[in-house]
Amino acid sequence: MPGTTEQKDEQARAQAKTLQDEALQADPNTLRLLFTEARTHYGWQDRDVSEETLRLLYDIAKMGPTSMNQQPMRVIFVRSAEAKNRLEPCLMPANKPKMRTAPVTAIIAHDLNFWEELPTVFPPNPDAQDIFRNNATAAEINAFRNGTLQGAYFMLAARAVGLDIGGMSGFDNAKVDDEFFHGTSLKSNFLVNLGYADTSKIFRRLPRLDYDAVCQTL
Ligand SMILES: Cc1cc2nc3c(=O)[nH]c(=O)nc-3n(C[C@H](O)[C@H](O)[C@H](O)COP(=O)(O)O)c2cc1C
Repeated sequence: MPGTTEQKDEQARAQAKTLQDEALQADPNTLRLLFTEARTHYGWQDRDVSEETLRLLYDIAKMGPTSMNQQPMRVIFVRSAEAKNRLEPCLMPANKPKMRTAPVTAIIAHDLNFWEELPTVFPPNPDAQDIFRNNATAAEINAFRNGTLQGAYFMLAARAVGLDIGGMSGFDNAKVDDEFFHGTSLKSNFLVNLGYADTSKIFRRLPRLDYDAVCQTL
């Protein structure tokens, strides 16, 4: 976007005001697609996912908010037979066929050195890197928190572009880290199978906790 910082601020305010004035709400079908009728899937059709769809997915997911705009999530799309062979030994036995039949399995990871990008992604505070440079605990907490949030945005964005998803945490993170991220600052968080589901493989919907069991107003 061309223009001075002040012009960009003005454009952003005008855009936010337009959105507010439109008083948009998600339409019922969007809510069905993303939440109320969307399911976690375990079986997959023999139908590929295009690179274009994965790019579209990411370009939506990246817009979800993170603290200080940190964006620590990193993603590996495991698609080739060779990459699947590397991932398989890291999984709990029950999860292996779910990963094997999915056309793509995303490793949702986060970069503990995400703060190196802060001058680019958070220019309002030129000293932001100093918060994390010598504080591994703060870096780990922020990478995990915001990487997990981005993983959630990623799953909803996948549904938004018409993909089915199945999250998986039943695997050995240390093994995945050793296999895929050895010698790097990346750590695995969870996996997401992506594709077009074989709907015959799902089970009944499990109960969700009610508002009164979860929420308090003070
Ligand atoms: C982060 C995450 C990890 C999960 N791990 C596993 C797993 O290892 N194996 C599995 O079969 N299902 C796994 N699930 C699926 C959940 O059990 C499922 O999403 C939940 O019961 C809700 O199902 P529903 O979306 O169909 O209502 C996981 C889901 C998420 C979001």
